[in-house]
Amino acid sequence: MTVHHRPEASPVPARVPLATAPLGVFGSLAAGRRNVLELIPELATRLPIVSGRTVKRWHMVTDPTALRRILRDRVEDYPKSVVTKLILEPAIGDSLFVAEGAQWMWQRRVAAPVFSHRNVSALGPVMTAAADRACARLAASDGRAANLYAEMVAATFEVISDVTFSDNEGFDRQAVHKAIEGYISQTAKVSFLDVVGAPAWVPRPSRLIATGPMREMKRMADRSIDRRRAEGAKPVPDLLDLLLQGEDPKSGRRMTTSELRDNLLTFIVAGHETTALTLAWSLYLCAFDEGAQAQARDEAQAVLGDRTATAADLPHLPLVRRIVDEALRMYPPAAFLSRTAQTQDELCGREIRPGDTVILPIYALHRHHLLWIDPDRFDPARFADPKAIDRFAYLPFGDGPRICIGASFALQEAVIVLATLLARFRLARVPGKDPKPVMILTLRPEGGVWLSVTRL
Ligand code: HEM
Repeated sequence: MTVHHRPEASPVPARVPLATAPLGVFGSLAAGRRNVLELIPELATRLPIVSGRTVKRWHMVTDPTALRRILRDRVEDYPKSVVTKLILEPAIGDSLFVAEGAQWMWQRRVAAPVFSHRNVSALGPVMTAAADRACARLAASDGRAANLYAEMVAATFEVISDVTFSDNEGFDRQAVHKAIEGYISQTAKVSFLDVVGAPAWVPRPSRLIATGPMREMKRMADRSIDRRRAEGAKPVPDLLDLLLQGEDPKSGRRMTTSELRDNLLTFIVAGHETTALTLAWSLYLCAFDEGAQAQARDEAQAVLGDRTATAADLPHLPLVRRIVDEALRMYPPAAFLSRTAQTQDELCGREIRPGDTVILPIYALHRHHLLWIDPDRFDPARFADPKAIDRFAYLPFGDGPRICIGASFALQEAVIVLATLLARFRLARVPGKDPKPVMILTLRPEGGVWLSVTRL
């Protein structure tokens, strides 16, 4: 018997109302401005594929076999969609996240060893220090409500800036943070419209951000890289050092300053908000289910005592890890991925034509009724045996050659911070203030995650 079993009618954590009627193009555009997730038809949580036409032909695929084909077996036929590039290129150039073909492959070969288990573990102390500072800040909210999402954004930004451009005079963390935030909020609303084929008059982000804070941020990053190149690596090499030392084993090619800068900014953009969201949603779920919170707290306190968690504690914190896994299922930060089909193909018996947009609605996949029992229910015990989960039914980090390069970095950080917080604080819901999931490039809690904080 599992401890988490509850009757069917028990309340479920915050979710998005998905579209139940087919939306015409104008309906889609209007919904897209409100909340991209509402565009994902309810049907996508019940059928393997849902197709439609909103200016362009599109298919939402939630069938694990088809997903394996798109992401792994036929990856060349399904490159990232034009829209992904439109949105991200102005900020992060033709870096790892957006590049295709040979231009992607050599960068992946340089970057892969940077994220080896050994290197990621060695960066653990940066995460431990950020967890400590987060606790110190949170202690000031003892007995009151705090926005845990804002707290987690601060913590994960400290980590990612410490392992990229840290210790460099003249690198203004706050300026970089503001530039990235501004960029994301400006581009957010147009993104999904493009996925479903928005008309040409929709403003494109490149025009919005070609000047101003983004340009200044790039200049600052370039100066930091040049300085580090001159000064040499830090005692524990960080991501910048590792990438600076990196070399493509095939061609011997190394990254130039602008290639390094674009990739490091990619790590910041791709890595900090996603990890903050994972933590914020995990904390919300812990407040939602006080029993699960108590169990995870017992585990964290038994392992840590008064210490802050470190990378070495990870194998001893399975319950904390399951909460993170379940949060990534229920609120995947990258709630949908998109690809543009290059060749004629067939997915789930349906014809795919070159140019069709193939949407991977991860949010719907993770709440699919054919793949998950009682999908809207929070139940970390689902992950007690990771082998029991179909690999292509659970894709918070994507899969195949383009799987998230920072997955183990993010998971290590999330477990360190969550275990430390749970060991030291009790978190409870604030009545009437449940977060509302909204898709803005990533799946965010509108208005934040407000929880009342009690120091233990
Ligand atoms: C919980 C946190 C994170 C989530 C949910 C996440 C999710 C994802 C997903 C879904 C993809 C694949 C996108 C696609 O196939 O269209 C991806 C790719 C990527 N992620 Fe993450 N990510 C996270 C953290 C990080 C971190 C911490 C870093 C770096 C420090 C990072 C760097 C990247 C990069 C560079 C890629 C592109 C890889 C390639 O195309 O070769 N991510 N991420």
